[in-house]
Amino acid sequence: MKYSRLFVFCAALLVGIAMQSCCCNDGCGIEGEGYKWQNGMIVFDEPARVAGQESMLGFAAEPIPVVRVGFVGIGMRGSAAVQRFTHLQGVEVKGLCDLVQENIDKCQKMLTDAGMAAADGYTGEEDYKKLCERDDIDLIYVATDCTNHVKVALYAMEHGKHVAVEVPGAITLDECWALVDTSERTRRHCMMLENCVYDFFELTTMNMAHQGVFGEIVHAEGAYIHNLEPYWEGSYKNWRIKFNQSHRGDLYPTHGFGPICMALNMHRGNKMTYLVSIDTKSVNGLEVGKKLLDVDEFLNGDHTTTFIKTELGQTIDLQYDVYSPRPYDRRYQLTGTKGFASKYPISGYTFTEGMLKEGVVPEGATVNPHGFASQEIMAAAMDAYKHTIHQEIEEVAKKVGGHGGMDFVMDYRLIYCLQNGLPLDQDVYDAAEWSCITHLSSVSLKHNSVPVAIPDFTRGDWNKLDGVTFHMK
Ligand SMILES: NC(=O)c1ccc[n+]([C@@H]2O[C@H](COP(=O)([O-])OP(=O)(O)OC[C@H]3O[C@@H](n4cnc5c(N)ncnc54)[C@H](O)[C@@H]3O)[C@@H](O)[C@H]2O)c1
Repeated sequence: MKYSRLFVFCAALLVGIAMQSCCCNDGCGIEGEGYKWQNGMIVFDEPARVAGQESMLGFAAEPIPVVRVGFVGIGMRGSAAVQRFTHLQGVEVKGLCDLVQENIDKCQKMLTDAGMAAADGYTGEEDYKKLCERDDIDLIYVATDCTNHVKVALYAMEHGKHVAVEVPGAITLDECWALVDTSERTRRHCMMLENCVYDFFELTTMNMAHQGVFGEIVHAEGAYIHNLEPYWEGSYKNWRIKFNQSHRGDLYPTHGFGPICMALNMHRGNKMTYLVSIDTKSVNGLEVGKKLLDVDEFLNGDHTTTFIKTELGQTIDLQYDVYSPRPYDRRYQLTGTKGFASKYPISGYTFTEGMLKEGVVPEGATVNPHGFASQEIMAAAMDAYKHTIHQEIEEVAKKVGGHGGMDFVMDYRLIYCLQNGLPLDQDVYDAAEWSCITHLSSVSLKHNSVPVAIPDFTRGDWNKLDGVTFHMK
């Protein structure tokens, strides 16, 4: 009896050791494709910085009093940007590049109607190169489908141009590193056009968070929940549904995530450590795929959830669902030790005693740690913590529009910083950090939701800047 128990124990031990060694090397098939299994996580190899290449943290270029712009991709999103640029001071639109001549004609008309000079038009698949090679352009604004973002951005930086690129900035981890390395080597800005950072609720709430109104933030939630049923057929040659059909993971992370990263000071004293993802089967996605693409397989799950851990011990819950009949929802919720903020599904704040600045809570009103603050307190708090940027540009932005004005605030800030030789609000590390969720979530899903380490694209400098700064002259 005694011996048989010893035998069972030893056998179990051997099986345990065998299983462990299996999961620590190629045996479980988890290594390869540029990553290894380490501390219970998939960890991607991080390319070393090449000699002579320097960090772009806090980078400011020479001031450009009149910013000369070339647009690549002027479909739905790019043409709206051209329209907004007609309301900016100190810009010249030099070139318009798209595969569809009608889009170019439409944007030319926007320019001339606004009293601006017509730009040169380019229509070939590779014509963006001609635009980037010009020596009378400072900024290339990229709003092609997401699979073309990086090739255009890299070519532009290699030819001395600053780059602004639509969301998501990149799809793969290699693409994220390529943006970082090219920006560092060429000393050109590469800003991802994450407009939600400039939304009136998000920016005001970021200001509150940075001033400690919510105490210490311990948890945040973000999402892109948007029933795209009416929009699938609007994209050029159906690129959007084709992309979703062939990719698993959170394919559009940055709207919900970017503003959270700003509130949590990511790579400005904080960093992400790892993520895990889980997804549902595809039901509605598959239906759309069958209808539009005649396929019987659809890789993207109807609902994808990703959990992220940060260096400062916070958790982030990020969701992606563009198939279900639900109200639009970016979530943007911050849970702090002393308060709570929520943009969706209900917009409101929970404040606690003594956390708001003196005089913000109207006389006779009280805060309630168990419910949302009254509309009166919310309005007073949003006014008291309005960001300087909004104080300056809110009125014009609301008139020009673009998702209620935030798109114009974004373009205004991009041009303002370039004109004044200031660091941009969003740097290339933001673009890489926020975009890499797509690839890393797909890797986690491929391996039954294992944790995947999130690279530090600053290569160790994540703690050098003390919080987020939106520079003013
Ligand atoms: N920030 C936001 O709120 C927001 C909203 C919608 C879309 N987007 C992003 O904007 C981008 C564009 O989306 P969209 O809805 O305008 O798509 P779209 O299909 O309407 O437009 C894409 C355009 O890119 C052009 N294009 C493709 N390849 C090109 C090339 N090699 N050279 C020149 N032009 C090329 C096409 O001709 C097309 O007109 C996408 O990355 C999308 O994710 C962002």
